[in-house]
Amino acid sequence: MPRLEGKVAVVTGGASGLGEATARLFCAEGAKVVIADVADDLGEPLAGELGDCVLYQHCDVSLEADVEAAVAKAVSAFGGLDVMFNNAGIGGDGASILDLPTEDFDRTLAINLRGVFLGIKHAGRAMKPRGRGSIINTASVAAHVAGHTPYAYAASKAGVLQLTRAAAMELGELGIRVNSISPGMFFTRIYWGVIPEQHREAARQFFADGSERTNPLHRMGEPSEIALTALWLASDDSSYVNAEDIVVDGGSARGVRRSNSLMGLLDRGESPLE
Ligand SMILES: NC(=O)c1ccc[n+]([C@@H]2O[C@H](COP(=O)([O-])OP(=O)(O)OC[C@H]3O[C@@H](n4cnc5c(N)ncnc54)[C@H](O)[C@@H]3O)[C@@H](O)[C@H]2O)c1
Repeated sequence: MPRLEGKVAVVTGGASGLGEATARLFCAEGAKVVIADVADDLGEPLAGELGDCVLYQHCDVSLEADVEAAVAKAVSAFGGLDVMFNNAGIGGDGASILDLPTEDFDRTLAINLRGVFLGIKHAGRAMKPRGRGSIINTASVAAHVAGHTPYAYAASKAGVLQLTRAAAMELGELGIRVNSISPGMFFTRIYWGVIPEQHREAARQFFADGSERTNPLHRMGEPSEIALTALWLASDDSSYVNAEDIVVDGGSARGVRRSNSLMGLLDRGESPLE
């Protein structure tokens, strides 16, 4: 039996990347899905391709009226809301903290953190009368490990983690679970969208090589692997999981893989101490 049969979901940032993979999987698993995004050029054809299980709604998650309208669309078109995937996000400016424009900091926080707050608020309101629901927020390994992403991005994602836990303490009492997913490295539009087309393949190879060298699983992630995690959190299979963050990164944020450590050198007889 499909794991989301009869459920209704909103997926923000669902027109591309991790959200798109999740919208596709939710649909395949029986859900009705509202894709809420600003990328109408991607979201509208995607909804056309997926057919009756999907509606596309233009929604800027930094704007309260847009988020409220996306939730209202799910309720009016599909009869309620069971799953809210607050996933939309931007990378922001990677400048030195000495030069970072304050407007960029504010804009990144408005989309990545306020957007999640608004999603929790309006989904929570829609779910409360039915006494059930699953809210899933996209955080990042940038919330766990410092230094490899823009400042505002890292701060926004750390905020998502604690906002998730705090909301879970209140909404859990109403039967609504709130969890987050922290993806590692996935070469989606958030990366390649800021790279000139002629350099995209080289950039993909750069990140693939880096993951090959440092990730315990020797590779980047596939968007379908986030979709499968979101499916589990959305479904009743995770019915006792609340206030949790699931890091989906092949283990790279948890430490240094053995082959890159001193023990790895010893394993290979290459100790610098000999
Ligand atoms: N790709 C990675 O390696 C990675 C790692 C950690 C976390 N994440 C997070 O995953 C989420 C999805 O990113 P992705 O990798 O799929 O990138 P993506 O760029 O492919 O998808 C992001 C989507 O969000 C949408 N979006 C941007 N601003 C919006 C706004 N104001 N309102 C509504 N929609 C908006 C974009 O149009 C796009 O469809 C983001 O929150 C991102 O921070 C990604």
